[in-house]
Amino acid sequence: MAKSSNGGSNESEEAITQLELLKKLKRLNSLEPSLGVLGFFFVCVLFITAFFYLDFETVSTKLRSSGARLGLQTHDSFPPLSSSSSSFSSSTKTTTCDNERPEFLDEGGDGCNIFEGGAPRMAGPMVSSPNGVGSPKIVTCPAKMLEKLRNKRLVFAGDSLGRNQWESLLCMLSSAVSNKSSIYEVNGSPITKHSGSLIFKFEDFNCTVEYYRSPFLVVQGHPPAGAPADVRFTMRVDQMDWSSVHWRDADVLVLNTGHWWIYERTIREGCYFQEGGKVKKDMSVETGYRKSIESVVDWIGNQVDMNKTTVFFRTYSPVHFRGGDWNTGGGCHMETLPDLDPLSISSEPHFDTVLKVLAELSNESQVMKLNMLNITDMTSRRKDGHPSIYYLGPKNGPASLRHQDCSHWCLPGVPDTWNELLYAFFLKKESIHEGNA
Ligand SMILES: *[C@@H]1O[C@H](CO)[C@@H](O)[C@H](O)[C@H]1NC(C)=O
Ligand SMILES: *[C@@H]1O[C@H](CO)[C@@H](O)[C@H](O)[C@H]1NC(C)=O
Ligand SMILES: *[C@@H]1O[C@H](CO)[C@@H](O)[C@H](O)[C@H]1NC(C)=O
Ligand SMILES: *[C@@H]1O[C@H](CO)[C@@H](O)[C@H](O)[C@H]1NC(C)=O
Ligand SMILES: *[C@@H]1O[C@H](CO)[C@@H](O)[C@H](O)[C@H]1NC(C)=O
Repeated sequence: MAKSSNGGSNESEEAITQLELLKKLKRLNSLEPSLGVLGFFFVCVLFITAFFYLDFETVSTKLRSSGARLGLQTHDSFPPLSSSSSSFSSSTKTTTCDNERPEFLDEGGDGCNIFEGGAPRMAGPMVSSPNGVGSPKIVTCPAKMLEKLRNKRLVFAGDSLGRNQWESLLCMLSSAVSNKSSIYEVNGSPITKHSGSLIFKFEDFNCTVEYYRSPFLVVQGHPPAGAPADVRFTMRVDQMDWSSVHWRDADVLVLNTGHWWIYERTIREGCYFQEGGKVKKDMSVETGYRKSIESVVDWIGNQVDMNKTTVFFRTYSPVHFRGGDWNTGGGCHMETLPDLDPLSISSEPHFDTVLKVLAELSNESQVMKLNMLNITDMTSRRKDGHPSIYYLGPKNGPASLRHQDCSHWCLPGVPDTWNELLYAFFLKKESIHEGNA
């Protein structure tokens, strides 16, 4: 980020252009119909513009008061975002760690400001283990994690929930680096960029933390010649996303998919499934989804060197729309507490498709070596963790009650917990290694 050659106004111009583009796409009823994704994008744009054009003090005051209305803790300070290195707060933190949570997770903590362009940073109650779920409590030491990532590439590939987790991890890790100029996007891309990839380098550790946008993990593209006219796109359920060549050699790979495998985002958009050269107009979304997971497993077996690459599959991140769905005015506004009742079976489609398919393929050697970030149950309790009507940012928000984001997560928040599990895996691996030594 610090190495970005874009000036601030270029950055917001680019963001605005992308916004226009998205609006058009939305009007065309094309591939980006998700309010959640759009909302997420709006947040980025508005946070950026807010910090450029508004007095920073005003913004943070407003944010504080909106947080107060919600009964949430917000951060004491929101440093202005810009692409210059001066945007990073001067931190005196060193890379030592006395087994405490990173400071930005604490009440009033303000350690991270890379991500103001991402998910809204309203801290809900940091309950990572309500009812003892997920205990024993994992204490993440970002400095130790960075040390484990030295000379390595950690790649997230998936949808915007994967991006949410990537942002959380960047935040967590950057809290352990005092020279924020040494953390930057390798191509100078602004964090508001929402297509392709973003690669953040931690120079002192020679490691990169990367995100590749790939909501389906398989290829979505133009239909083959001779396809029926109402087939506008196809999802090639037997072909990994072209960008997978870039993920293949990562040292740590975290995959996720799920939220886009619904009728509204596929068949209703004229996107049918394709196997080989053939469009399968009768194939259901569920079948397409299952076949795609099978293709991912095949790909891991054939293309990924599991001696080098540790592969994680993150399970489904539940949404919390009440009184409707994401596209019919459902919401999660004014949810301020986690759900502590016994878990009810989710009615969401594909809630556990990935787990079921992997269970069926569990005799494959690569599946045995897969690591699951099994976050669905614990995450389903956090109806209080979503941006709801606050995704537009302080300038243009709050959004209408009918257009809420109850899919993505505020940061600091729930995805931090997913990364704590990731960290726990590193520790476990280390202890097994030491045990064998
Ligand atoms: C930095 O890490 C890459 C792997 O991501 C490795 O190939 C390269 O040798 C490392 N550079 C140094 C100077 O250690
Ligand atoms: C911080 O990192 C930048 C980029 O690598 C470097 O140019 C600068 O000298 C570093 N500053 C300090 C105080 O180490
Ligand atoms: C991975 O390691 C195992 C055992 O060390 C070895 O038998 C296997 O050939 C290795 N696979 C690759 C692709 O290098
Ligand atoms: C796993 O089981 C399925 C059927 O249950 C079988 O078709 C497949 O060949 C098995 N794979 C391995 C690696 O044993
Ligand atoms: C995932 O975790 C839940 C509890 O959080 C557990 O009930 C379930 O069996 C786990 N599934 C797998 C495949 O590990």
